[in-house]
Amino acid sequence: MKALVLAGGTGSRLRPFSYSMPKQLIPIANKPVLEHVLDNIRDIGVTEIGIIVGNHATEIADALGDGSHLGVAITYIPQERPAGLAQTVQLARGFLGDDDFVMYLGDNMLPEGIREAAAEFRALQPAAQVLVAQVADPRAFGVAEVDAHGVVERLVEKPPVPRSNLALIGVYFFTPAIHEAVDAIEPSARGELEITDAIQWLVTDGRTVRAQEYAGYWKDTGKVEDVLECNRMLLDAVARSVEGEVDEDSVLIGPVVVEPGARIVNSFVVGPVVIGAGTVLHDSHVGPYTSIGRDCVLTDAHLDRSIALDGSTVSGVRGLRGSLLGRSAAVTGARLEERHHRLVVGDHTRVEVAA
Ligand code: DAU
Repeated sequence: MKALVLAGGTGSRLRPFSYSMPKQLIPIANKPVLEHVLDNIRDIGVTEIGIIVGNHATEIADALGDGSHLGVAITYIPQERPAGLAQTVQLARGFLGDDDFVMYLGDNMLPEGIREAAAEFRALQPAAQVLVAQVADPRAFGVAEVDAHGVVERLVEKPPVPRSNLALIGVYFFTPAIHEAVDAIEPSARGELEITDAIQWLVTDGRTVRAQEYAGYWKDTGKVEDVLECNRMLLDAVARSVEGEVDEDSVLIGPVVVEPGARIVNSFVVGPVVIGAGTVLHDSHVGPYTSIGRDCVLTDAHLDRSIALDGSTVSGVRGLRGSLLGRSAAVTGARLEERHHRLVVGDHTRVEVAA
C-alpha cells in the first residue's frame, strides 16, 4: 500500500498565516500538522508517500526533506492550481501505479491514528473505504448515507440540506478502481474534481464502498478556532519533561515541557504547556493549554490557551487568550500614559482588543 497526502490548496480560511506558510505546516503541540499525518501513515506500515504540493512546495520540502528522518520515503507531486481532490489522484497516477493507497488530507488531525480503519480495509477489501464522524452541522463536509452494515449508499459534497449527520473525514482507502472513477466524473459547481463525486461514481457503478465510523478525536484544522482546539486536545496528552533551564524564582505546575535551550526566569507556568527550544520567558505567566515555538521571547506577558509560532515576542501584555501568533510576530504593551493602541496588522488579520 502507498499513501497520497494532500498539501496543496489555498488555505484561505487560515489567512493571514497561509499567506506566508502552508496551513499544513501550522504546529500543533509544536509539531507541524503534516508530521502528525506522516506519523499516522507510518504507523500502518506505509512508507512510500506521495505529497501533493502547490505554491508552498519549497517550504514543505524544506520542512520534510526526503522523509528519511521520519522513517518514510517522500515523492513530491506538484499541482499547478487547486483543481480538486480527485484531480490530485490523476496527477499521482504514475506514483501510485496499481497499488492500493490511503489518501490523507494534509490538514486533518486524528491523534489516535488510523490503525483500525486500515485493518478493516485490508480485511474486507472493498473498492473503497471512507471514514466518517457524526457532527452537529455537516454542511461544510462531504456527507455519507450508510446502511446498517456499513455500506455506503450515497455521498454528497457539502449539501445545503444534509440527509445524514455523518461527515466524511479526510482519510480514504482506495483500490485502483478509483482511477477509472476520477477520469469519469465532471467538475462540480465550484469547478473542482471532487473525490466525493468519484467515490459516488463507484457506488453508482455497483462497487462496494464501505464506511467506518471513527471513534476517536478528529479535526479538520482549516480554521484558527480548530487549530487552537486541536492544540488543547493534544496538549492534554503531554507528560512533564524539563530539559531547559528553570531558575529558582519560577514555578512549573503540571505537565510542562521545556525543550533544551529554553530558559524560564521568574515565571509561572501552568501545564499543559510546551515551550520550544531557545525560547526565553521573563516575569511571565503562561498556560494552561499553550504551545510556544522555538526562539520566542516573552517578557512580562500573560498568555493562555494560545499558540505562539517560532520567533514571536510578547512584551508587557497581559490577558492574551485564545491567540495564534505568527512567526516573528511582535505584540507589545504601550505605556499606560499613552491611552491608545498602535497596530501594524497584515491583510486578513483579526485583532480583538479588550476595550
Ligand atoms: O476535512 C474533511 C473534508 O475535506 C471532507 O468532508 C470533504 O468531503 C472534502 O472535500 C474536504 O473538504 P475541504 O473543503 O475541507 O477541502 P480543502 O479544500 O480544505 O482541501 C483539503 C486538503 O487538500 C487541504 O490540505 C488542501 C488540499 N488540496 C485541496 C485541493 C482542493 C490539494 O492539495 N489540492 C486541491 O486541489
